[in-house]
Amino acid sequence: MKKILITGATGQIGSELTLALRNKYGTENIIIAGHKKSPSNELVGGSFYCNFDVRNAKVLNKIIETHQVDSIFHLASLLSAVAEHKPQLAWDINMNGLLNILEAARQFNCSVFFPSSIGAFGSDTPAENTPQDTIQHPNTIYGISKVSGELLCNYYHQRYGVNTRGLRYPGLVSYKTLAGGGTTDYAVDIFYAALSEQHYLCFLKEDTRLDMMYMPDAVNAAINLMEADDARLLHRNGFNVTAMSFSPQMLAAEIKKHIPDFTIDYDVDPVRQAIADSWPRHMDDRAAREEWGWRPEFGLEMMVKDMLAKLVVKLHLF
Ligand code: SER
Repeated sequence: MKKILITGATGQIGSELTLALRNKYGTENIIIAGHKKSPSNELVGGSFYCNFDVRNAKVLNKIIETHQVDSIFHLASLLSAVAEHKPQLAWDINMNGLLNILEAARQFNCSVFFPSSIGAFGSDTPAENTPQDTIQHPNTIYGISKVSGELLCNYYHQRYGVNTRGLRYPGLVSYKTLAGGGTTDYAVDIFYAALSEQHYLCFLKEDTRLDMMYMPDAVNAAINLMEADDARLLHRNGFNVTAMSFSPQMLAAEIKKHIPDFTIDYDVDPVRQAIADSWPRHMDDRAAREEWGWRPEFGLEMMVKDMLAKLVVKLHLF
């Protein structure tokens, strides 16, 4: 990877992956694309920033050609809950955006990172120890776009030799940028509420257990997979990766250890609850561990401690 384009760079993953890639590969080798007209100085940090829509193939190709991009981290996508409210738009952005990226990669010989999700599974997938290769019948438009994305990336590899790689992220917890529009967003919102009001009203049921990961591990996963030795990869796209598995009740109990007055109540949103109920509780990520050395650093305890410490500084609560 010498010249890297990151789409969706202003989003939850992008805002942190961009900084990590810049540290590793150098400011001038990172091209940032996002939907915000004026992104933060921290994000741009001297790299080239372009504000464009991934559905615009002409502009995308021009950027790739001009900057001689050889690797693309394609993060631009609508998340699960917002996609359920706007299914046609979600399909358009998630699928046509990806198709444009793959076509550009084919034409300009780029490698592509594509994040899939726990959303790529459905109610008839085994929810415990969800296998790497298993039934994938999601009933959300987000999940359907993610399975299709995995398959399309595999197709571009087999048919055209494009170096596509991807993994299935669980819910991601981070302090820099809010997720927005996802089903697992509660696991981020809860920290802000705990610090500011010592109370959180959760939109998922207390015992809804899902796979989760702290952002530093999510960033490392993307970079390590893209740097992995091609010869060791039996899979290419849709690697299961997970770091922990918890429910709102379990997360609240861990936060309470640091903020004893913290309380949680539940006001369940039926749309997001139905989505969460169709997702795995704990994925088997042995393929990622064996094929490219996946190993998370953060468990629940360490993550909660770090999130609270970072947010206290961010929110000027000291
Ligand atoms: N975190 C995402 C969401 O909730 C799932 O990939 O939509």
